[in-house]
Amino acid sequence: MKQSVKLIVGNWKMNGLGADLAEALALGAALQASPARARVGVCPPATLIERLSRAVGNTIEVGGQDCHAEPAGAFTGSVSAAMLADAGAKLVILGHSERRAACGETDADVAAKVDAAVAAGLEPIVCVGETLAQREAGEAVEVVSRQMAGSVSDALKGQAFAVAYEPVWAIGTGLIPTLEQIEAVHRAVRAALIARLGDDGRTAPILYGGSVKPSNAAEILHAAEVGGALVGGASLKAEDFLGIIRAV
Ligand code: PGA
Repeated sequence: MKQSVKLIVGNWKMNGLGADLAEALALGAALQASPARARVGVCPPATLIERLSRAVGNTIEVGGQDCHAEPAGAFTGSVSAAMLADAGAKLVILGHSERRAACGETDADVAAKVDAAVAAGLEPIVCVGETLAQREAGEAVEVVSRQMAGSVSDALKGQAFAVAYEPVWAIGTGLIPTLEQIEAVHRAVRAALIARLGDDGRTAPILYGGSVKPSNAAEILHAAEVGGALVGGASLKAEDFLGIIRAV
């Protein structure tokens, strides 16, 4: 099946102060000296988006980790998609399992945020993934297919976007699914995209996320239907993240 260029995105989560921009600068310098075979993105905390995109925006695509579904208004503490774009973001992670779990985000909430992101010209990275209990009950494909049906909005037709399959039990744990398990879920994600978006669902990269490291990146990134990676802990240090980027 035709695949777009791979996309490797770092998710810094709630990590990173001004001093940590040095890691992004080191990454940018390495990519400038020897360009990646993939698109590379970094999603820092919202407070660093503008500084990071000014510093490395020509070599690294910068993104947000969430946005509000409304364009503006009385939503104390929230950040709109247009604000992310205004600060220099090109990408936005939506529906990460940490937000689904801690903030009660539903598939419908995620779909509304997708609409907002597309309206602001951002490229959404829509996250899905099963819990350990769901995996052990043999429900992973069913759960992810249901999340896809609810979280993927028609607004994605004709737009650049990605999906990230991140098993909740693999995030930050050092555990990873087998390649067969990854491929089975990625095939289900692709089927859900085509069912929803027709031909527009054929080319969006489907990223794998959850404990990706330099040591396991090559085999994961070369598995069928794996269009890139969403990387948490190993994206915080330029050297580790480069090890993953160079595995493409
Ligand atoms: P991890 O996180 O790479 O630290 O497991 C991935 C993610 O949550 O996106």
